[in-house]
Amino acid sequence: MNPSADATQPLAQSVQPDPIAERFHFLVNAPALFNAVVTALEWDVFAFLADHPGASFEELRNFTGVPAHSLRVLLHAVCTTGLLERREDGTYHNARVAEEFLAPDGPDSWRHILAGWKEIYYPAFAHMSEALGAGKNTALAAHEGDEPTLYQRLSHNPALEAVFHRSMSAFTLKSLDALVECEEFATVRHLLDVGGGDGTTSVRLATRHPNLSSTVFDIPSVSELAARNSAREVGDRVRLHPGDLFVDPFPSGVDAVLFSHVLEIFSGEQITELLAKAHSVLPSGGRVFIYGYNVSDDETRGWYSARLSLYLNVLASGQGMAYPARDYEEWARRAGFGSVRTLTGYPYEHGLTIGTKP
Ligand SMILES: C[S@@+](CC[C@H](N)C(=O)[O-])C[C@H]1O[C@@H](n2cnc3c(N)ncnc32)[C@H](O)[C@@H]1O
Repeated sequence: MNPSADATQPLAQSVQPDPIAERFHFLVNAPALFNAVVTALEWDVFAFLADHPGASFEELRNFTGVPAHSLRVLLHAVCTTGLLERREDGTYHNARVAEEFLAPDGPDSWRHILAGWKEIYYPAFAHMSEALGAGKNTALAAHEGDEPTLYQRLSHNPALEAVFHRSMSAFTLKSLDALVECEEFATVRHLLDVGGGDGTTSVRLATRHPNLSSTVFDIPSVSELAARNSAREVGDRVRLHPGDLFVDPFPSGVDAVLFSHVLEIFSGEQITELLAKAHSVLPSGGRVFIYGYNVSDDETRGWYSARLSLYLNVLASGQGMAYPARDYEEWARRAGFGSVRTLTGYPYEHGLTIGTKP
């Protein structure tokens, strides 16, 4: 071996960085770094830096009031993610993404989304092997009650239920503009929003389409939450209808039924049953809208869809997934709908499947 030849061609230069290896190293540290980002959110670090770009360590310490060593450890962790930048002069700055995603405090803020993931989703994922192995949502045991789904059990814990719905509504708002702008809603007069949660989607649809009224159908404790949250700008065009979507009849007199982020909770048989129930209350020409995550057709892509499917099976219902659009199309046809089609390209791996009652 010629040592001088080695010296001219160091190993580091001959090895291309492997993006999968890079992703692996980030991924295995991500649970800790995720919690560090949430702590920085809880301490309002990103909001403070939005108002005080270039703040010093001492200024951040005075603002947060936490021990200097703890702050040092936390800031280092968040800097490794790239969300915070520490310049040579020791000042701290939000990265552009932190400024956009983490500093604001509005209803669609990531801070609400991540609070829900920290409090509810991620503790459950510690039970993943057990739950997937058993084919049951065994992580539900951590929540009071004996009902089969998380949605029902949260009614025993109003504080956590509020965190959950604030988180869900904030995430829904991320993908809602595209849905609300869909031309198909311009001709809807009376929508039934099945599993409509705190009413976020219906209020936005009614605000955008002045001739649209909506009935939000959800479990009674969520209807109470919706009654407290409902924006009054749409007057009485958004009404609430408490009930269980499998047990109680759907209200009639509607010309469209929306399932937004709802059908993925259930099995194919239950989905077909719910679509048939929607079909039975619609007039001829009435439409069904199925909005939510669609896994890619080859079922290999989509981080958000993957996380949702795992959450549903480990915790929420013990079944369901971010089904591919072709599954929803098939179930809609089986339930009696015609002209079934899916609009794709919505944000966060979303699709909108539409069917019309012949
Ligand atoms: C994932 S959230 C979707 C909320 C809203 N549609 C959205 O897109 O943000 C699912 C909703 O279905 C409701 N839900 C689940 N099971 C239900 C049942 N058996 N009866 C009525 N509503 C139910 C939950 O309470 C929850 O509000």
